Amino acid sequence: MSKTLQAIRGMNDILPAQTPVWRYLESTFSELLDSYGYSEIRLPIVEYTELFARGIGEGTDVVDKEMYTFLDRNEESLTLRPEGTAGCVRAVLEHGLSGGGQVQKLWYLGPMFRYEKPQKGRYRQFHQIGVEVFNQPGPDIDAELIVLTARLWKKLGIADAVTLQLNSLGSSEARAAYRDALVVYLQQRFDQLDEDSQRRLTTNPLRILDSKNAQTQALLADAPTLLEYLDEDSRSHFEGLKSRLDVLGIAYEINPKLVRGLDYYGRTVFEWITDKLGSQGTVCAGGRYDGLISQFGGKPTPGVGFAMGVERLVLLVETLQQVPAELSRPAHAYICAFGEPAELAALALSEQLRDTLPGLRVLVNAGAGSFKSQFKKADKSGAQFALILGEDELAKRVVGCKPLRDDSEQQSIAWDALAGHLAGLVQDRGR
Ligand code: HAM
Repeated sequence: MSKTLQAIRGMNDILPAQTPVWRYLESTFSELLDSYGYSEIRLPIVEYTELFARGIGEGTDVVDKEMYTFLDRNEESLTLRPEGTAGCVRAVLEHGLSGGGQVQKLWYLGPMFRYEKPQKGRYRQFHQIGVEVFNQPGPDIDAELIVLTARLWKKLGIADAVTLQLNSLGSSEARAAYRDALVVYLQQRFDQLDEDSQRRLTTNPLRILDSKNAQTQALLADAPTLLEYLDEDSRSHFEGLKSRLDVLGIAYEINPKLVRGLDYYGRTVFEWITDKLGSQGTVCAGGRYDGLISQFGGKPTPGVGFAMGVERLVLLVETLQQVPAELSRPAHAYICAFGEPAELAALALSEQLRDTLPGLRVLVNAGAGSFKSQFKKADKSGAQFALILGEDELAKRVVGCKPLRDDSEQQSIAWDALAGHLAGLVQDRGR
């Protein structure tokens, strides 16, 4: 017997029962970004591997262990995008969108791929909603990105469940000086480090700061901190951001160990985290990457952005029972027809209704069936009304209009008057 076909581990189907929440999140987000003047950009899912190796950085877990990389038929190394920033920067450069200091405020949405160990909130195909801003060097835009996410949490009813962590990684010189100091400190304690951190000491020492190992964390308690090494410009940028967040009343916690897992960041980094989802609690993360564009061969161009994990937001909205009730959108009307002439009339009538009342959700019974079976299907569809068309109704050019959600009487309505009769439904309850 052949093996049952299954989806790839960590790559999930989003089933019809779940898509309304996804659409709700996506539309809430796109409307919000519209109101802040951001434009959507759509980017390929596959890029040359080199883009990610150079952008995200060799030595990061994402590049070293998690990429879906393959050779195409032309022997070129391609990779399913593990994140959106590198591709967005590539597109902006390729199309000259940031030339002449043009400000770009962009957002994107779509699947990303990482070969991680799947668990609740962590998948191999997951979705991000991301934002990237170019040519805005000041802390004012960092603050705008944070305030617009804070507004989103309020709109979604999850504001009380997320907290903001903030850090500054400083300039690349400050980071290099800090890295040296950290390496010296940890070298002296090398034998007490966990195996992963011992390896990272040569590949990516800053990542040791967010090691999950308790003994390593204890060692770090007395280690030098990044904030002690901040250069003057980064310090005043960070102060500028904090004072804006204070004015906006956005609470934050400074986490000097927040370094992020991608290499392109400098200065501001932030994460919104929750304790409601278990170990995968980061719902949104980002920061500044002023050096990335020049690294890709462009003129030095400030960049800053973030991405949020849609699966994690869906889980959070569901866990906190914040899914709006009106997301379920059953049909307004279900047409039951008996006999072929009535079936033909039902078809024509449904199309007329759709012409007259855009927004009306009308189902037409398919596959004939007895009165009882069609009525049962009408009821199960969740529709407000069953519209009944039999021989009698056909002769009189009327439909029987039977309310399905209360006990009111069935009415006989002329075909011409039907749209008028149903119009209230679309206005009152239609969306
Ligand atoms: P990231 O921290 O790697 O940053 O991912 C951003 C968010 O994507 C995470 O906070 C999480 O919510 C979600 N996420 C990441 N990996 C997974 C996974 N395996 N399963 C489910 N959700 C996941 C970036 O990707 C940067 N490009 C963000 C950015 C944009 N920075 C500046 N601009």
